[in-house]
Amino acid sequence: MEVKTKSLLDNMIGVGDMVLLEPLSEESFIENLRKRFDHNEIYTYIGSVVISVNPYKSMLIYTPERVEEYRNRNFYELSPHIYALADEAYRSLRDQDKDQCILITGESGAGKTEASKLVMSYVAAVCGKGQEVNKVKEQLLQSNPVLEAFGNAKTVRNDNSSRFGKYMDIEFDFKGDPLGGVISNYLLEKSRVVKQPRGERNFHIFYQLLSGASDDTLKKLKLDRDFSKYNYLSLDSAVVNGLDDATNFRTVRNAMQIVGFMEDEVQSVLELVAAVLKLGNIEFKPESRCNGTDESRVKDKNDLKEMCELLGIEQSVLERAFSYRTVEAKMEKVSTTLNVAQAYYARDALAKNLYSRLFSWIVNRINESIKAQAKTRHKVMGVLDIYGFEIFEDNSFEQFIINYCNEKLQQIFIELTLREEQEEYVREGIEWTNIEYFNNAIICDLIENHQNGILAMLDEECLRPGTVTDETFLDKLNMICAEHQHFESRLSKNSKFLNDHSLPHCCFRIQHYAGKVLYRVEGFVDKNNDLLYRDLSQAMYKANHTLIKHLFPEGNPAKVNLKRPPTAGFQFKASVGTLMRNLQTKNPNYIRCIKPNDKKAPHIFTESLVCHQVRYLGLMENVRVRRAGYAFRQAYEPCLERYKMLCKRTWPHWRGPAREGVEMLMADLQVPAEEFSYGRSKIFIRNPRTLFFLEERRRQCLQDLATLIQKIYRGWKCRTHFLLLKKSQIVVAAWYRRYAQQKKYEKIKSATTVVQSYTRGWQARKLLRELKHQKRCEEAVTTIAAYWHGTQVRREYRKFFRANAGKKIYDFTIQRIMQKYFLGLKRTLPSMSPVDKNWPARPYVFLDGVHTELRRIFHLWRCKKYKSKFTEEKKAVYEEKLEASELFKDKKSLYPSSVSQPFKGDYLEISKNPKYQKLNSSFDEKVLLADVVNKINRANGKGTTRILLLTKKNVVLADQKTGQVKASVPLPDLTSVSVSTQNDGFFALRLKEGSASAVKGDFLLSSEHLIETITKLHHIGSTASDREQLNVDISDEFLVQFKQDKVCVKFIQVAPKNGNSVSCKRKNNRLLEVTVPASA
Ligand SMILES: Nc1ncnc2c1ncn2[C@@H]1O[C@H](COP(=O)(O)OP(=O)(O)O)[C@@H](O)[C@H]1O
Ligand SMILES: [Mg+2]
Repeated sequence: MEVKTKSLLDNMIGVGDMVLLEPLSEESFIENLRKRFDHNEIYTYIGSVVISVNPYKSMLIYTPERVEEYRNRNFYELSPHIYALADEAYRSLRDQDKDQCILITGESGAGKTEASKLVMSYVAAVCGKGQEVNKVKEQLLQSNPVLEAFGNAKTVRNDNSSRFGKYMDIEFDFKGDPLGGVISNYLLEKSRVVKQPRGERNFHIFYQLLSGASDDTLKKLKLDRDFSKYNYLSLDSAVVNGLDDATNFRTVRNAMQIVGFMEDEVQSVLELVAAVLKLGNIEFKPESRCNGTDESRVKDKNDLKEMCELLGIEQSVLERAFSYRTVEAKMEKVSTTLNVAQAYYARDALAKNLYSRLFSWIVNRINESIKAQAKTRHKVMGVLDIYGFEIFEDNSFEQFIINYCNEKLQQIFIELTLREEQEEYVREGIEWTNIEYFNNAIICDLIENHQNGILAMLDEECLRPGTVTDETFLDKLNMICAEHQHFESRLSKNSKFLNDHSLPHCCFRIQHYAGKVLYRVEGFVDKNNDLLYRDLSQAMYKANHTLIKHLFPEGNPAKVNLKRPPTAGFQFKASVGTLMRNLQTKNPNYIRCIKPNDKKAPHIFTESLVCHQVRYLGLMENVRVRRAGYAFRQAYEPCLERYKMLCKRTWPHWRGPAREGVEMLMADLQVPAEEFSYGRSKIFIRNPRTLFFLEERRRQCLQDLATLIQKIYRGWKCRTHFLLLKKSQIVVAAWYRRYAQQKKYEKIKSATTVVQSYTRGWQARKLLRELKHQKRCEEAVTTIAAYWHGTQVRREYRKFFRANAGKKIYDFTIQRIMQKYFLGLKRTLPSMSPVDKNWPARPYVFLDGVHTELRRIFHLWRCKKYKSKFTEEKKAVYEEKLEASELFKDKKSLYPSSVSQPFKGDYLEISKNPKYQKLNSSFDEKVLLADVVNKINRANGKGTTRILLLTKKNVVLADQKTGQVKASVPLPDLTSVSVSTQNDGFFALRLKEGSASAVKGDFLLSSEHLIETITKLHHIGSTASDREQLNVDISDEFLVQFKQDKVCVKFIQVAPKNGNSVSCKRKNNRLLEVTVPASA
């Protein structure tokens, strides 16, 4: 079995079960209710009793989900709810075959009717389904609107107050499917038909009919839509906020149809309702009779007429019934007239009876429809929706009756609760200890005792001949009940009330179990009698209207019953008796409704009002009874399941029987033995304290467990999270690495591609270059070949082309010009002399270069030719000449004139001249020069001619005439030769000092052929190897060694005069001056 650990004890606001209230007092009780009410918890338990506080607002606690939630759950498993009670009742009815009754009590407006509807709707929702079943359910549910239309009215306490007590038996088959039902109604407040207190209304149906019926229907019913036309309808509150009479009328019609009313039945019912309204409009006036009494007469017969037409009554019969009253006694008929007051009384009595009988008929008619068809045994669930205790300022017969009913209900409550407790104790094998509680049997007895009960005495008074008044009734009570503990009256023998001014004279007070109630005796007798004159019921019976005839069976003259009809009190007592007997056979379930405020407003909790209700509903008494033995009990399994965490040995699992587990638990927790008892299947806990102790421990333990769970969960979560993160990290890393590698690879790849492309490009370019080169070569070859071929071809074919003529002509012309030029040049060539500067003029500019070149070539060629013509002698001559040039050119003015003179050398032809034969023969060598010179005398400067001979070894001076040698100087003794720069032929031969020749001193000579002489002398010196080069000094002043003296020879240039020639004079010892005329 699955043990549910949920409990009423979870998430409690206040306490969910008043039995657990600690400490228990009226204040704490009300405080608990208030606290829960403030938190929208309108239901609270007292054990299995449900207290319901009217929320006066719609609550979201009646949803289909809620129905499902409470379905098949243990009563204490979820928070208190009316559904829990309904479910419990339904399940024990279905599963344990126990008939159930649900007793709903509470004052007007406390929510009884709503509660009964909730129970019915819950049962309808959870019981079986199917076409037939659904129809039954529908009929049962739809009986409510019909009954409410006829039996409910707006009162100051409740806009939809039920003015009758209702008990409904719902019948189920063995499966728990509804079969049908029976409704009993109690004590309709019929006085409301004729008179309503201020701020209240008549029964809903009157207003619904007038507002909702079609014009046609109203016409048929002879009605006007105007409320104000009807005396029975109070006007001040005809319209109620939030109540749509017209719509409700349609709902009622519809419900009647569903429940099974025939069309004509509905019509009859509406006719009766209309008749009541008409009846209220009938008025009376007095009419004096001859005997001096006043007789009543109907004032305006129109309403009477219409009413009679509606009901098919003969007008005169009814009219008479309002004026006369027939009293029959012992076969004797006495007719008395009615005065106006009596007529009104009769009218109202008729209206009230008519309406209440109609109501009862409707209830019966519904019963007929909804009654179970099958005759098989069935299970029953009774729902009692009846007024709770009523304590008003003015309490009358009705309150008395109602409170009596509540006393009876309380009695069976006590009886059944105790019985149940006792049975449970026995069942569980727990010793029964007597419970101290207040038993209200004594109060019930005060009211219902056959001999001296208040009701019995009232009946006695009513039936007693003679004058009977309410006062006589009170006197009687004072007499009989004076001694009763719960009866109080000013006149009772109980003298202690004599001075109680809160107790008026015409009243008595009963100390009900729920509190004291003061009743005013006024009207008790009348109300109990509930008299309807026989003439009226007979008139009704005579009506030509099936329904009305049916409603007044006592009007049948054939069945004249002289016995008085039973009094209201009697009837009520009887039906309460039946009800009680009925209830006693059933398992009771209580719903106690409480009204939180008088304003019909939500959120208001008037403590005084609630306190009052708590008192008269006897709720404290309820709790006390429930707590008398053991306050709390629980089966072992759920108990162990709930508290097992409090003991190490039961936590987390207990393997043995649950009871042993619980025993282990209690022992471990050291709960005192007197605090609990072990039953067969349940543990009984005497004091709520103990339970709360367990609860508190459990709460702490749960906190620890929660922490533990939290800890483990958090650890798990973190670990999972971490693992997830780690896994994710790996995934991310893998992805990233892949990405990075990819990137890297791509980079390398692109780099490679670039390198590759460069390489390939380079290779390609290289190849291209080669190819291009090759191509170019090929092209070049081709081109060359082409050109070559072209040339060949052109050469071949040129002659055939005119275009070449120009060139040809040009070439030809050039050729001709060149020819002419060269031929011309040949003709005009200058002389072959190398010194010839002539050269023919250039004929054409374009030949400039050629011309110049030719000139140069020609000159070179001419020079070559010239040179090749020279002999050895000539060559020697020219070499001498060249040497002379080197020695004297530009140094001596005489030089230019010598150039053109050929160097003859042997001017004297010495070898041939016989004169000089001897001289010549003195030399071995060849004479290179032989000339005549002047030898300057050193003394005066006069010259003597001499012959100068020059050989390769000597210079010889010889006498011209004789040819005798005067002086011979070997050349090596000759150091230098001095000459002037001028145009003279003087020269000095200077001898080497110390040599043999030098004895006579240097020679100063003058020669015609000075240049030739010195050149030859120089030439010999240069070619001879045995001596030094001969120096040639060229200066205009030089020293000459004469013997021992040195004389300076100075040359002076003078202007040339005719005839003057070179002259030499001795100036002084040292100076010899030579004047030389300047050459022209
Ligand atoms: N459980 C509830 N939820 C919401 N409103 C409720 C509830 N019970 C009663 N009421 C309100 O209180 C009014 C009076 O209830 P009703 O059952 O007619 O009272 P009673 O039958 O005790 O006189 C209802 O019309 C409704 O507005
Ligand atoms: Mg009601």
